[in-house]
Amino acid sequence: MSSANKSSFMGFLDRHGQDDWWSAVNNLAPLIHEVDQDATKIWFYFWPLWVRNMLQDAEANPQLLEELEFKGVARLEQHIDSSHAFVYGHRYWPQVKMAISERASSQAAFESLDLVDEVRAISSQVAGEVKADVSLVIGITIIGFMTLHQVGRAAFDTAEGNLHISDWARRRSPQKVHADRAKNDEGGFLGYLKGLKRDYTIRFDEGFKRATFKLIKGVQLTQASMLDQADHPYANNRCEPGDGPIPTECRSAACGTCWVGILGGNDHLSEVNPLERRRIARFGYIETDEPRPLIRLACKAQATGNVTVVIPTWNAVAGKYLEGKRIAIGGHSSSESEENVAKPRRH
Ligand code: FES
Repeated sequence: MSSANKSSFMGFLDRHGQDDWWSAVNNLAPLIHEVDQDATKIWFYFWPLWVRNMLQDAEANPQLLEELEFKGVARLEQHIDSSHAFVYGHRYWPQVKMAISERASSQAAFESLDLVDEVRAISSQVAGEVKADVSLVIGITIIGFMTLHQVGRAAFDTAEGNLHISDWARRRSPQKVHADRAKNDEGGFLGYLKGLKRDYTIRFDEGFKRATFKLIKGVQLTQASMLDQADHPYANNRCEPGDGPIPTECRSAACGTCWVGILGGNDHLSEVNPLERRRIARFGYIETDEPRPLIRLACKAQATGNVTVVIPTWNAVAGKYLEGKRIAIGGHSSSESEENVAKPRRH
């Protein structure tokens, strides 16, 4: 874990609490390519600081995991190279990781640095190296900073820096990925006229071409997932036989198992109803008034078109735990995420 003197790069990262990280993400969002704006935020919902701290507490008090009904793998140390495979900028991870490692080992003075400025500096350096637009590198760079902060230098430097997407995914342009997320299966003009087109495509992993299942118009994402009998080698680690690609348990917004991030097709989903809104906050995932937020319960979200989701590696019922620790649900308040974009806050 990151323990460092105040003048080191690790000490610089340690000075930032969860609110500071969210402020930096929101400050940088306008500079991030549209293909990665939501993906970057979803990553920060999936890997909040409180989970790392809770897992440290649980080493002395294993009962805590039971109390939080915690399932899955949430140690970022085990996902250093893979946690961000759904981010387009993942393809630049080897170079980003190396640049961050070098920065962390430098002897520069870090006391007066700004998190946003540091992310922009590393992003520009890497973008020059890989000859990519800097907007494609900013999201993966701040994710790299947070990963280093959570896992510490030894684990970060030891990770191999591998890519976790297929050659098919690597060949796709950001424009193509972004456009495909907005697409809908229309069934052609004839299908439209006959009203025949009633099934759509749900993509659950953009890293692999075949990571999709079909959904009949109007059903919940988990219902369609459970009908999918294909053997997906890249299915989520929490999936049980019969779940399909999305981990599912209660199907009634009671357990928190089925939470997903929405990368594309948000407009094709039903609005959050009061039950889903209450429960998704109770699980500790997100608290928001948005009708179609980036984080949903797949057992409550009904689709009427193509949707691209991303599935986390863990689930919990952590709202009360966060309340007790005075940590905002999702790691930040929804009002802050939208409004506090002028300057990162420091605690
Ligand atoms: S399956 Fe339990 S909350 Fe959706």
